Amino acid sequence: MAIGIFDSGLGGLTVWAAIENRLPELELTYFCDTRNTPYGVRDADDIYSLTRSHVHALWNNGCNLVILACNTASAVALRRMQEEGVPDGRRVLGVFVPIIETLTERQWGDNSPPREVAMKNVALFATPATVSSRAFQRELAFRAIGVDVEAQACGGVVDAIEEGDMILSEALVRSHVEALKRKMPNPEAAILGCTHYPLLQEVFQRALGPEVKILSQPAIVAESLVDYIDRHPEMKSPGSGNRFLTTGDHVRNSDHATRFLKRKIVFEAVWSGTALEC
Ligand code: DGL
Repeated sequence: MAIGIFDSGLGGLTVWAAIENRLPELELTYFCDTRNTPYGVRDADDIYSLTRSHVHALWNNGCNLVILACNTASAVALRRMQEEGVPDGRRVLGVFVPIIETLTERQWGDNSPPREVAMKNVALFATPATVSSRAFQRELAFRAIGVDVEAQACGGVVDAIEEGDMILSEALVRSHVEALKRKMPNPEAAILGCTHYPLLQEVFQRALGPEVKILSQPAIVAESLVDYIDRHPEMKSPGSGNRFLTTGDHVRNSDHATRFLKRKIVFEAVWSGTALEC
C-alpha cells in the first residue's frame, strides 16, 4: 500500500520531493489530474467532484492514506469530503492546516483557544479558488488573534508553470507581489499557498525582499507526515514502489517534472477510475 499524493498538476511534486527526502522508506504514488488542471479557476462544486473522484480512485486501488498536495482541493473540497464520511481504514489529509500550525506556533492537536502570535502582517499567495474560499482565514481564526492577512489571487501562474513557461510565470509572480504590496506594503511573512509556487520561491523572495519570511509548504507538510505516521504506523506498509500517474500527457508531464525537480521522473498515463495499482 503506497501513500497517495494528489494534485491537479505538477505542483504537488514539491510536496512529493520533500516527503521522499524526509521519509525515503515510504512508497509513494503521485497522481495528478493534468487533463483538468488548473483547479484554481473552477467553481467549488467542480473542484469537489474532481477531487472526490480522484481520491476515491486512489483509495480503491490500495492507497489508504491520501495527501491532497493541493491547497485548492484542501481549501474547497476536503472539509466536504470529511463531512460526507471517509470509508473505514481510509484517510485524506490536506496541506493547509500544517502551515497554519507553523504560523501560529502550535503543535498538532493543540486545540487551545486562539491567542496572539508573533506574525501580525501576513501575505497569502494562492489560487483564485483558495482565496475566495477564505479557508485560510477560517483556520487561522481558530488559532490566532490579531493577525492581518492580505490575500493575493495569483491568476495565470499555475497555467504558465504547467505549460513550462517559466519566463511568463516569473513575470506573473512579480506582478502579483507588486499588487500585494500595494495593499500591504510591509508583510512580515508570506505564505506560498499553492503547491506550484515553491518552484518559484526565489522569485517570490526577490520580489518581496529579504526581510520577508517565506513559509513554504513542502518541508512543513513532510514534517507533519512524520508525526502522523508515528501515530498511525499502519499507514506505512509496502506498496509497488514509487509511481507517477497522470490523467494528462505523460510524456510532457515527464519532461516538465524532470526539469522542475532536476531528476528523472517518468509518468504513466491513466484514466481516472482505471486500475491505478498503488
Ligand atoms: N497546486 C495546486 C494548489 O496548491 C493547484 C493549483 C490549480 O490547479 O489551480 O492550489
